[in-house]
Amino acid sequence: MTQDYSQPMISGELGSNSPNAAVERNYYARGMHVPALFEIDGNPIPALVGEFGSPLFVFSEHALRNKARHAREAFKRRYPKTSFAWSFKTNNLQSVCQILRQEGWIAEVVSDFEYEKARHLGFAGPEIVFNGPYKPRHILQRAIDEGALLHIDNWDELNLVEELVKDRRQPLDVGIRIWLDAGIRPVWSKFGFALANGEAERAADRIVKNPKLRLHTLHTHIGTYILAPDAYRTATQKLLALRDVIHSKHDHLIECLDLGGGFPSNSLLHSMTGPAEQVVPPIEAYADAITEVLNKLPEKKRPLLRLESGRHIVDEAGYLLTTVVAVKGINRPRAEGESLSARDYKEQLISGADSKVNYIADAGINLLYTSAWYRFDVRPSRMVAEPPVPSRVYGSLCMAIDVIREHVDLPPLAVGDVLSVHPVGAYNISQSMQFIAYRPAVVLIDESGKPELIRAAETLDEVQRLERLPSRLAEK
Ligand SMILES: Cc1ncc(COP(=O)(O)O)c(C=O)c1O
Repeated sequence: MTQDYSQPMISGELGSNSPNAAVERNYYARGMHVPALFEIDGNPIPALVGEFGSPLFVFSEHALRNKARHAREAFKRRYPKTSFAWSFKTNNLQSVCQILRQEGWIAEVVSDFEYEKARHLGFAGPEIVFNGPYKPRHILQRAIDEGALLHIDNWDELNLVEELVKDRRQPLDVGIRIWLDAGIRPVWSKFGFALANGEAERAADRIVKNPKLRLHTLHTHIGTYILAPDAYRTATQKLLALRDVIHSKHDHLIECLDLGGGFPSNSLLHSMTGPAEQVVPPIEAYADAITEVLNKLPEKKRPLLRLESGRHIVDEAGYLLTTVVAVKGINRPRAEGESLSARDYKEQLISGADSKVNYIADAGINLLYTSAWYRFDVRPSRMVAEPPVPSRVYGSLCMAIDVIREHVDLPPLAVGDVLSVHPVGAYNISQSMQFIAYRPAVVLIDESGKPELIRAAETLDEVQRLERLPSRLAEK
């Protein structure tokens, strides 16, 4: 080796600092074609947009039921005493909640709005698990009267619950939420009682000693998109250890362990390279981690296992279809006489060869809140027989942070091209904002392949329905 040998900067080239470095050196490394997505459950994408408008959320009932059944089987085969509760916050569309209800899910809610929604849909009180750090008094009272399972979050809530149950004849079943270190960083410590310093044990002691309450569940939710199944093994062991302590102190065997949600969908974060199927562990790995611990217990001591998986169940069932409304950038095929915009000029000066083709899509981060973290798969809906080039997909909002994909290789596209954005079934509908634009229609494709409208696009009347204009302001 000569003195002036310098090591190749492999990690720098392939790391997140320069995602295009490797492909820039070998143009064809990008592949000649970006895979297109032509249809969803037999419905050509341009036809869906033609019928229901653009942008458009599309849900596949087939994909949703399949994913739910797969998860259910993965757990029930290993541990028959498993029950699932649907996390309304992950997706609160009535049709989605109702499909999961048909699949045997109960409801998991975290607010008065979600509680009322679950009841309105027909979930009975005992079919509702009520989480969350703030349950207003009126809804706590209703949930108690209707027999929902409260997961108590903090001492002030425990004080209030004790006050509300003091005249009951029968004890009320309740759970407590607990936060613990399962090896995941950051540790979610906002919710529940701390395990490590004995706080959770003290809360459990107090509940067990109250004749008006019965401690039914120990609950934890360690985070979301957890890629380490072993974290669940740790969480299960830690909750079981507390259950043992309570059993030996009070001769009360807690009936249920609720391990929350957090299992990942086949999605990627921005910093990750895929494919997601290779990065994300299968649900069976999570089922093994949890049930191996539970199955070591003598049969009589095995608790009911409850899971509140959200993202894993619904994310891949959801697509957003969005149309290209403008093309910008140096690499835009330019008509004669068109000059460079300021942005193009800046890119030419500053970024040089790294400049991209920029597309403006008719949907923005008002509909895709999770695009801040997740690297959605963006595909054209027709075959374009030209090599892909570095591109960026901007959203339609008049704000600089509205970018759906900062780096994505796409073939040259034109105004009017429809893109699919996937998977977007988790959290995007429930966190969507009515900011600047109307929220679009949502369609569900049933198992026979028929698309049905399940939420109409917003209109001015709908959006303004709750506003009141004082008469003195009505005239100019
Ligand atoms: C208490 C609780 N359970 C379940 C979920 C669903 O989580 P996930 O979508 O990661 O499965 C959440 C989400 O934050 C939650 O807070």
